[in-house]
Amino acid sequence: MFEVTLVAGARPNFMKIAPMLRALRNTPFVPLLVHTGQHYDAGMSDIFFRQLGIPNPDVSLGVGSGRHGQQTARVLESFEEYLLSRPQFPKGVIVVGDVNSTVACSLAACKLGIPVAHIEAGLRSFDRTMPEEINRIITDAISDLLFVSEPSGEDNLRREGISEDKIIYVGNVMIDTLLAQLPAVERVDIRDRFGLEPSSYAVVTLHRPSNVDDAERLTALIDFLLYASERVRIVFAVHPRTRERLSSSGLINKLDNRITLSEPLGYIENLALMRQAKLVLTDSGGMQEETTFLGIPCLTMRANTERPVTVSHGTNTIVGEHITRVYEIFNQVLTEPKRRHTNIPGWDGEASQRIAATLCKRWLD
Ligand code: UD1
Repeated sequence: MFEVTLVAGARPNFMKIAPMLRALRNTPFVPLLVHTGQHYDAGMSDIFFRQLGIPNPDVSLGVGSGRHGQQTARVLESFEEYLLSRPQFPKGVIVVGDVNSTVACSLAACKLGIPVAHIEAGLRSFDRTMPEEINRIITDAISDLLFVSEPSGEDNLRREGISEDKIIYVGNVMIDTLLAQLPAVERVDIRDRFGLEPSSYAVVTLHRPSNVDDAERLTALIDFLLYASERVRIVFAVHPRTRERLSSSGLINKLDNRITLSEPLGYIENLALMRQAKLVLTDSGGMQEETTFLGIPCLTMRANTERPVTVSHGTNTIVGEHITRVYEIFNQVLTEPKRRHTNIPGWDGEASQRIAATLCKRWLD
């Protein structure tokens, strides 16, 4: 029995660790799950554990919200303490994605000489104003095994001088979860929940600081959503950060009766809603991949993407920096939706198995 530590901190991590925990069950590893507590609400955390069958964390660090430096520092300090409290160091630490918890835990482990595996390595937006981009670059620079989810990841890591033996293309663990949950997703009736006809509505999520923290940008986005709501019904699942900004600016009142607002959705409900949508408008990373896999047109409300395969092989269109462009792109997508569904290597439900097999080879032999 060999202990490995799996780290999860924020909402987009939970769907990536769920299949890893399952895949590791069939190996000599004993996975211990550490929840940093970066996300702590029932709607941002607990529901994902329940729906994805993730066991209660073995350790909860309870760091909560904070400024970037502060939150990252809190995770770094408490995760190091946790590692030092173990009778023996784990064989390795597994981190996923690009959130503050990812970079903090990889740094703590790396400084103690514990091998780190990063799942979803190599993604780059080439936009260093995004906190996630900084987290990606640092995590990849100090991790020992870099599990890559899409072709661009390998190129990016090579360009950064990462040695070839660390780079392992495995495909996308998000799709492992999507496929595992599809039967449950198919049982959810969207009409029941929101009174919607299939293919008649758009799903909206927005939470990036670059969209919601700037009052001018947020106002422009809301004006666009009001315009869009005249053409298609809109369901907007509002992230806590966004709700706070919409409330404090009073913009929330503009949406009344024109847009269906919801609390953040559970994994199953979100996927069920997307699966039957006419299109998705988002700034999320994961939803760009999920819509590509589902063949649902996606408009990404950002200047760039770290997931270019969703544009080249999938259904994603990047709006770009100027919000004025979104009107044109939206109308184009409404009339000529991008519905390509190509097979992307390793987006097949087996990525976590490939990772588990590699970890056995690299950390046990
Ligand atoms: C974080 C990730 C981002 C990911 C997103 C998904 C980083 C740098 N960012 O951004 O990559 O796409 O999660 O949601 O790690 N809050 C709650 N309840 C919670 C969690 C947060 O109310 O359970 C509120 C707090 O007021 C907090 C704000 O949301 O200040 C933002 O949370 P935070 O974790 O700091 O960043 P996100 O914007 O969620």
